[in-house]
Amino acid sequence: MKVGMIGVGGMGSTHNSAVKVLSETKDIAVTAIADATPENLQKAAALWPDAHTYADGMELLEKEELDCVHICTPSYMHADFAVAAMDRGLHVLTEKPMALTEADCERMIAARDRSHVQAMVGHVVRFFPEYLFLKEAYEKGTYGKLKSLVMQRLSQNVLWGYQNWFQDEKKSGSVVLDLHIHDADFLLYMLGQPEDISVQATAFDSGMINQVVTTYSYPGLFVTAEGLWDTTPVLPFHPSYRAYFENATITYDGCEHPSVTVRRRDGSIETPELKTESALDTCSSGINIKSLGSYFTEISYFYDCLEKNIRPDIASLEEAAASVKLMLRELELAHRACRQD
Ligand SMILES: NC(=O)c1ccc[n+]([C@@H]2O[C@H](COP(=O)([O-])OP(=O)(O)OC[C@H]3O[C@@H](n4cnc5c(N)ncnc54)[C@H](O)[C@@H]3O)[C@@H](O)[C@H]2O)c1
Repeated sequence: MKVGMIGVGGMGSTHNSAVKVLSETKDIAVTAIADATPENLQKAAALWPDAHTYADGMELLEKEELDCVHICTPSYMHADFAVAAMDRGLHVLTEKPMALTEADCERMIAARDRSHVQAMVGHVVRFFPEYLFLKEAYEKGTYGKLKSLVMQRLSQNVLWGYQNWFQDEKKSGSVVLDLHIHDADFLLYMLGQPEDISVQATAFDSGMINQVVTTYSYPGLFVTAEGLWDTTPVLPFHPSYRAYFENATITYDGCEHPSVTVRRRDGSIETPELKTESALDTCSSGINIKSLGSYFTEISYFYDCLEKNIRPDIASLEEAAASVKLMLRELELAHRACRQD
């Protein structure tokens, strides 16, 4: 299978490494790479010396014969590249958020359906063992009923990225569509649509939203999730959750190891062994698979679906579009909350 990479910055280089590892066990290879930043292009091409390189993703799509592309460009470009790729009959794995408008999400779904290709969005938290542990405990009722869930995803200000695109709300969708969407998408995966939401927010001096605290109402349960791009550039990235069940509280702290702890009502404490990808530790090109973590699991799943010619039903376009829709509503409520301050 011939694979193209469009955008090999921070996230695209992870996709590129994951495909390199997968190429040891599957008949796939990256044969074309596009990136507008020459250093990123060269670094990615070092893994695939025979790959053709391009400074723009559209040129790659026009000139190459491929089976599939990964789209890891800034978010505002996802929809145009994805539609162009699917219209050429290519399968698509695009990074989250799927797109920044509902209209673009609909365009992508229509392109997939008319071209009969497979497409998936990189909502990697759906593949994180720490979050799947929570989902399973909820679904099986292992610790009784879930009463509340508090989630956080905190980050320093995002001052890297191609032409500073994170700092432009029209290009990134702010912390809401870029960072907070990870938790919101997982909530939709685990709990479905909330009955109601309320949003509190702060904004940078530029007016772009940089913090949201959203409360989601579900029958018999409430959830809050905070997403933050702090003004300081030195706050460590910190994802976490605390799930309060009738008979135990599960905590996840992404800065701790082990990261998940179950504290039962009887006072006992467990740190569950979580299943991580263990097919290979290091591939022959020296990539450490463990460092790719759940991105590797996610990308393997996508290729398994392609091999079986089945539609990915984890992080499908429809599910990812529902997450975008919810985030757009939160973004609107966030601006409204800031105007009332
Ligand atoms: N799933 C996750 O955990 C996760 C984490 C980080 C970022 N992301 C997502 O991944 C995407 C990329 O984010 P990033 O942090 O890698 O950004 P980035 O700015 O580091 O990388 C984007 C790359 O796209 C390239 N690019 C720009 N225009 C291009 C064009 N016309 N053709 C080809 N390449 C072009 C840039 O040169 C740059 O190398 C975003 O949508 C972001 O939301 C996802």
